[in-house]
Amino acid sequence: MSVLTRQIEFVTSSPDLAGCPPPELPEFAFIGRSNVGKSSLLNLIVGKKGLARVSATPGHTRLINFFRTSGGAMLVDLPGYGYAKTGKATRERFSETIAEYLAGRGSLALVFVLIDARLTPQAIDLEFIEWLAERELRMALVFTKTDKVKPRAMQANVVAFVEKLAEICEGKPEVFISSSRTGAGRRELLGRIGEALVES
Ligand code: GTP
Ligand code: MG
Repeated sequence: MSVLTRQIEFVTSSPDLAGCPPPELPEFAFIGRSNVGKSSLLNLIVGKKGLARVSATPGHTRLINFFRTSGGAMLVDLPGYGYAKTGKATRERFSETIAEYLAGRGSLALVFVLIDARLTPQAIDLEFIEWLAERELRMALVFTKTDKVKPRAMQANVVAFVEKLAEICEGKPEVFISSSRTGAGRRELLGRIGEALVES
């Protein structure tokens, strides 16, 4: 068992940056479109199914949720972006929450940007990554739901995404593939978090 997952506890939920806990631990944020599998991936990584709330209804996670791990990392489950159904005002507020947190959180060590492996490159994901890159935030891409797509199609989607990204951002992105169903990617992501902890 990884030292990271020996113990994990929920710390708090916050609607904004001001309500976040003191920035004392290196933070690893999970972000991506609504319903892409952020909460599921966090649960997979820590090996606890019901820790972060998962739902088939998009827009489920509405607050910034903090989970402290025994290895000294803070895992952060963020609300999704690109979900329209809550109404415009709400949607804008949530995007503001995300932007405020990502731009203003000094303890942010790494942002995992989740992308649905079943889809061809989506403008909203590319724009969001461009926004992160402009702010020089460290990030890694995680393609999710790989159990739901044939390996060949997944590979094609990943390659297409990386090519599109090269048009707007410099450098080669770090890429992980994952499935909360099969457990794919868990070891690699734990390893990556461990590496970042050593560096920080
Ligand atoms: P919001 O908080 O609403 O933005 O969603 P989220 O990104 O946190 O997604 P969540 O983890 O709640 O998962 C959304 C839906 O996708 C749920 O029905 C999950 O069971 C399903 N799901 C998540 N990850 C996977 C995966 O790897 N494979 C499959 N097949 N389904 C998944
Ligand atoms: Mg969620």
